[in-house]
Amino acid sequence: TTQRTLVLLKPDTVRRHLVGEVIGRIERKAGWSIAAMDLRSLDQDTLEQHYGEHKGKPFYEPLVEFMASGPVVALVVEGERVIEGVRALAGPTDPIAAAPGSIRGDFGTIVRENLIHASDSEESAIRELKIFFPGLS
Ligand code: CMP
Repeated sequence: TTQRTLVLLKPDTVRRHLVGEVIGRIERKAGWSIAAMDLRSLDQDTLEQHYGEHKGKPFYEPLVEFMASGPVVALVVEGERVIEGVRALAGPTDPIAAAPGSIRGDFGTIVRENLIHASDSEESAIRELKIFFPGLS
């Protein structure tokens, strides 16, 4: 099943110069491709749309502040089962619980600053791709 997913390399990844490292891991998966990519700063409206489901949770405000603290790299990745696959490369949300070998397990310590976002389902991927890459066919 060929799919597309939205990936965000969070501001910590850009600040720590781990963009190449993380993209390298995604790129090396057989048959996966980058369909679109750019470095951008996220405005409040975009963040509210993207993280709407978390509004009201205690981590929401600091999360939005963090995601606006510097540029992110937004990517569309396509290929065989990429939705599940990028999440497997990333590891679980909490980097301390994430296994070494995963992106979060190798590089993260703080739950909020967990390096990467990847859509969690086909439904989320469609919704999030529309927010970040509205022009994509
Ligand atoms: P992600 O799963 O990509 O999307 C929601 C984000 O909220 C998550 O990554 C973390 O960056 C952040 N997050 C989730 N749970 C917590 C938490 N308990 N404390 C701080 N940040 C969190």
